[in-house]
Amino acid sequence: MDRLDRDIVKVLFTQEVIKDRIAEMGKEISDAYADSVPLLVGVLKGCALFMSDLIQQISIPLEIDFMAVLSYEGRKQSNGTNRFLKDLDFVIEGRDVLLVEAIVDTGMTVGYIIRNLQARQPRSIRLCTLLDKPARRIIELPIDFRGFDIPDRFVVGYGLDFNQLYRNLPYIGILKDDVIGLNRQRKKKW
Ligand code: IMP
Ligand code: MG
Repeated sequence: MDRLDRDIVKVLFTQEVIKDRIAEMGKEISDAYADSVPLLVGVLKGCALFMSDLIQQISIPLEIDFMAVLSYEGRKQSNGTNRFLKDLDFVIEGRDVLLVEAIVDTGMTVGYIIRNLQARQPRSIRLCTLLDKPARRIIELPIDFRGFDIPDRFVVGYGLDFNQLYRNLPYIGILKDDVIGLNRQRKKKW
């Protein structure tokens, strides 16, 4: 077992399962935007792998853009105070925007982004997330395209990190509790 795999207590979705589900999502999105050229807005950095695979499964013309917000800063839980690290390149007024997230947990990050983007008067904003952790939702959000529901556990891989690590795992797995604990102690000492 290599250095990343051994920190995973359980694989939730293999590379194959993720790929198949994204193919289905790509079809749904292609149908939903049949008469439009949507702008897919990825929320960095977690969306990187999902965005890349998703757009290759969408068969209609589209554009992509990215934004980054700081919501976690190494803590395990979001505190609702977000900060833009990177704004969009494009003006979205009158556009059909599809926000692409890797995971919606409390909903605070995406809720904040949607409020901000709505003020720019796009024609529509819809939300696409690969993972949905409904047990921890604080901000109610309509999720238009959803990959998988997951239990209330901390997951990593396929773009998702813990303290910036594990994004390069090709599958999604539950991180061992003692890894989360260990890293916290290390962080304190540093
Ligand atoms: P929210 O604001 O609570 O919905 O959190 C959204 C952000 O928290 C996501 O974009 C992720 O960066 C991070 N996050 C929430 N849950 C997890 C998880 O289980 N693994 C990795 N990152 C997570
Ligand atoms: Mg993170």
